[in-house]
Amino acid sequence: MTIEVIPQTMGQQFGRRSWAEPWKIKMVEPIRMTSQADRERAIVEAGYNTFLLRSVDVYIDLLTDSGTSAMSDRQWAGLMLGDEAYAGSVNFYRLEEAIRNYYGYKHVVPTHQGRGAEHLISQAVIKQGDTIPGNMYFTTTRLHQELAGGTFVDVIIDEAHDPSSEHPFKGNIDLDKLQTLIDRVGAEHIPYISLAGTVNMAGGQPVSMANVKALRQLCDRYGIRIYLDATRMAENVFFIQEREPGYADVPIATLLKEFCSYTDGAWMSAKKDHLVNIGGWLAVNDHEVFDKARNMVVIYEGLHTYGGMAGRDMEALAIGIEEAVQDDHMRARIGQVRYLGDLLIDWEIPIVCPVGGHAIFLDAKRIYPHIPQDQFPAQRLAAELYLDSGIRSMERGVVSAGRDPESGEHRYPALELVRLTIPRRVYTQAHMDVTAEAVKAIYDDRERTRGLEMVYEPEYLRFFQARFAPLKD
Ligand code: F0G
Repeated sequence: MTIEVIPQTMGQQFGRRSWAEPWKIKMVEPIRMTSQADRERAIVEAGYNTFLLRSVDVYIDLLTDSGTSAMSDRQWAGLMLGDEAYAGSVNFYRLEEAIRNYYGYKHVVPTHQGRGAEHLISQAVIKQGDTIPGNMYFTTTRLHQELAGGTFVDVIIDEAHDPSSEHPFKGNIDLDKLQTLIDRVGAEHIPYISLAGTVNMAGGQPVSMANVKALRQLCDRYGIRIYLDATRMAENVFFIQEREPGYADVPIATLLKEFCSYTDGAWMSAKKDHLVNIGGWLAVNDHEVFDKARNMVVIYEGLHTYGGMAGRDMEALAIGIEEAVQDDHMRARIGQVRYLGDLLIDWEIPIVCPVGGHAIFLDAKRIYPHIPQDQFPAQRLAAELYLDSGIRSMERGVVSAGRDPESGEHRYPALELVRLTIPRRVYTQAHMDVTAEAVKAIYDDRERTRGLEMVYEPEYLRFFQARFAPLKD
């Protein structure tokens, strides 16, 4: 760091010390500015669902951080090293080695993306009637658990459901809730704990090292496995380094491996932490589970040495794994998310606090207290943000939560949020300023905004394809 060589007086003179990204831009992708008329037409065509917008109609795309990151020059160079052999590609072995090195698991099964791995692990270990406890649901994860015959039960700490709680590790599992569940259903009906790093639906909130250690101890008493959703686990350990006593000087790579050592395996959407546009994997220590998953992968994804990825994809992914665990990279990545969060906090706009790893989550319940949850306040807020400035965000509330499979009723989550998700290494600070100002504009106009009605609802993962129409006064 340059900080030591700059004379003290200079720092005092400026009165502040900024951070900057540990990269510079080598190639740019033009984006289209849109007019108010363009946006009005586009949002109506999209049924007020930002998933149904065409990207050409979007100015700043904060729909997701999934597959939207910028690859490095090394990753792009890696694409040229793709070994496209059907079986036994060189790049698969590079990938396998990177996963073993940085995550520490023994056996690796490649998949096309995260949900491919969720499918394999769910089918391999869940039996009809099983219960899967976890730290808040994720949409595709829970659906695969349900399709395999299981029921997901949320055992996250209560603070996770409170957007204003400043708890430093809102992703933690409540061990008392878990114990009560084990006593009720019996350990033999719990195939594994579904533990996620930086819990997406809670606002990108981390799990502490102390929590996973204690979880391991509890699970060992009952012989219950712990499988990790490692999708944003490198981001999770940044918070451990920052907030948990004793870890400040430990590199992210070391913390990641330690955290994983308390678990029995992981599934991964490499489209996030790993800085690639497509890819995923499942990795486990248990040979029997590996054997089942490796057999199934050839039915659903591709041969067990490519799992739906091209050789070049696996090469870029192997390089991305190394880049993801660099401390400087992670500081800048999370620093950018915080920069946006701090602007909104300064303007007293309600967001989930503390700011998490991959996104800012606007609290639609507090922004639109006059819109009842069955009129989809977060869905409306996402549409308004697009209409104002061409910024695309995502609903994470009642629409994402779907319907209860038994009662058929909407599931009403405590959190009714809009996610402004920051792709890695893609946008500048100026894009964050524009975004913050757009949020401020729609916040100032909040009292005039009304809810939506759902006019089309698909059977599975409805948030992707549902259509809405505005309600009038
Ligand atoms: N687990 C988590 C925590 C995720 O955030 C995602 C995807 C998946 C699993 C599934 O992975 O998309 O590669 O099949 N999240 C994306 C998002 C879609 O926008 O948050 P996938």
